[in-house]
Amino acid sequence: MTQTIDTQNDHHFQSNKINVNQDFAGAVLKGLSSKKKSIPSRYLYDAKGSVLFEEITELEEYYPTRTEIKLLEENTRDMVGQFPEGAVLVEFGSGSSRKTEILLRTLPHLKAYIPVDVSPTALDDAKARLTKKFPDLRIAPIVANFMEPFALPDWCADAPKIGFFPGSTIGNFKPSEAIGLLEYFAQDLGCSSRLILGVDLKKDEDRLVAAYDDREGVTAEFNLNVLTRVNRELDGTFDVSGFRHVARYNENEGRMEMHLESRKDQSVEILGRRFDFKKGESLHTENSYKYSVQEFHDIGDRAGWENLATWTDEESLFSVHLMTPACN
Ligand SMILES: C[S@@+](CC[C@H](N)C(=O)[O-])C[C@H]1O[C@@H](n2cnc3c(N)ncnc32)[C@H](O)[C@@H]1O
Repeated sequence: MTQTIDTQNDHHFQSNKINVNQDFAGAVLKGLSSKKKSIPSRYLYDAKGSVLFEEITELEEYYPTRTEIKLLEENTRDMVGQFPEGAVLVEFGSGSSRKTEILLRTLPHLKAYIPVDVSPTALDDAKARLTKKFPDLRIAPIVANFMEPFALPDWCADAPKIGFFPGSTIGNFKPSEAIGLLEYFAQDLGCSSRLILGVDLKKDEDRLVAAYDDREGVTAEFNLNVLTRVNRELDGTFDVSGFRHVARYNENEGRMEMHLESRKDQSVEILGRRFDFKKGESLHTENSYKYSVQEFHDIGDRAGWENLATWTDEESLFSVHLMTPACN
């Protein structure tokens, strides 16, 4: 795989790259050894998973992307009035960086853009596309799991930071984890920073389920792809056709869940270890928590962020928040 990572980040990239596979093996073995089997959702995003996610964002049923893009297009000008010149834009879980283009077109004179993602291919593709569109912008991707501490480059230490966390990726974490993550972002970005964050809202269950179980089966392919990844990277023996994609709303937890349900009694070997699945047994692959605006404001408060503004669409499908650390 050819990498086009900023040389100043090679150290991060190399060390994180080695960790990714060890992390993957550890997470899969641990997750499949549990009574309720699971794999953390970040492992859905290998090269193919990142491409499939982009396809999902284009689907009719998948309202979050087009709604968030519209909110950003309509309101970015209001946000940027307060941003300082010479800031560094740091995006967590940047994926294709398509939404970032809206900010890059509007933000005043950025010092650099630092996209952070677990998917090296998504970062490569985004950097290649953005370099053509914004040739004067310094783009310095970091391959990292943002749940764990990673260092921003020394050259941006003194620059004010603007954090960007779109796509409702915050919803992939339990509320307690989301609070921990936002606390860590506040420390990393600093007291003078701003954070622009997209959050999916609670709504009609049918609409939610359709968004995670589309008619064309792209989300099913995205979910099942994690089994192919285990087979390829961890010497696994999953019969992918022996599992089916299931998406359901968990009312008690306020979250959409994605599972892979075993169609039969079967055994799988991974790195020489055997795991048994009963017919109907579930492998839990993703949570996506849905919030009311007030519930999310409470999460931000508890994580030490002051809400400066919130925008929602007419149907109240999605919300975009502008926040600053409450440092004093
Ligand atoms: C729901 S997608 C959102 C992509 C893009 N930000 C958007 O709004 O369309 C989640 C993105 O976050 C990345 N991601 C998920 N968990 C991550 C983690 N723990 N650390 C770094 N990146 C992560 C995935 O690779 C993927 O690109």
